[in-house]
Amino acid sequence: MAAQINPSILSADFARLADEAEAVGGADWLHVDVMDNHFVPNLTLGVPVVESLARATDTPLDCHLMIEAPDRWAPQYVEAGAGSVTFHAEAAAAPVRLAREIRAKGARASMALKPATPVEPYEDLLPELDMLLIMTVEPGFGGQAFLDIMLPKIRRTRELIKRHGLELWLQVDGGVSASTIERCADAGADVFVAGSAVYGASDPAEAVRALRTQAEA
Ligand code: DX5
Ligand code: ZN
Repeated sequence: MAAQINPSILSADFARLADEAEAVGGADWLHVDVMDNHFVPNLTLGVPVVESLARATDTPLDCHLMIEAPDRWAPQYVEAGAGSVTFHAEAAAAPVRLAREIRAKGARASMALKPATPVEPYEDLLPELDMLLIMTVEPGFGGQAFLDIMLPKIRRTRELIKRHGLELWLQVDGGVSASTIERCADAGADVFVAGSAVYGASDPAEAVRALRTQAEA
């Protein structure tokens, strides 16, 4: 699959979200970080904002739920218009049931792993998912340094995906930039979230193009 670049609006201007979505018009998805100040020590936005943003842009929304009780909330993000919904393995009470519910409601189902959460216990669950997100920083904030020590986990996950013959997308999130994206791609990631590297650039659309070229090199 061609590399996909998903700008994270966590680094955008929240008062101008529709314009900020427009500014990265060439992006594959917009990454929307939902934080509840419980699962992570930060608070961002919820269902009403996702609903408005989905109406305001043609770019599909990739909602990353860094929240407790995703079993209760994730389906509401599908109803709000998200094209992909990611819940955290550490927070989900019933990940298989939740993934099936997200798919049944018409969105792509995705599960995220924090840096200290291994992928191996979830091997049998991978066929239930459309995407697996490997966090390359501790979730909660944009602009953190990329954790190199996650590269072996990305490689092992890519091998699992191959071994099982799955179509699963492999996303990385956290510290992805011009200086780290090639290592992620080389390790087997194919979907790249970038917040500060896109919205911190003087030309965000050009930053998306440059990251895609690097990821595909
Ligand atoms: C962090 C969020 C990320 C964040 C990435 O918890 O999940 O999506 O926006 O920001 P950068 O790319 O700046 O590390
Ligand atoms: Zn994220």
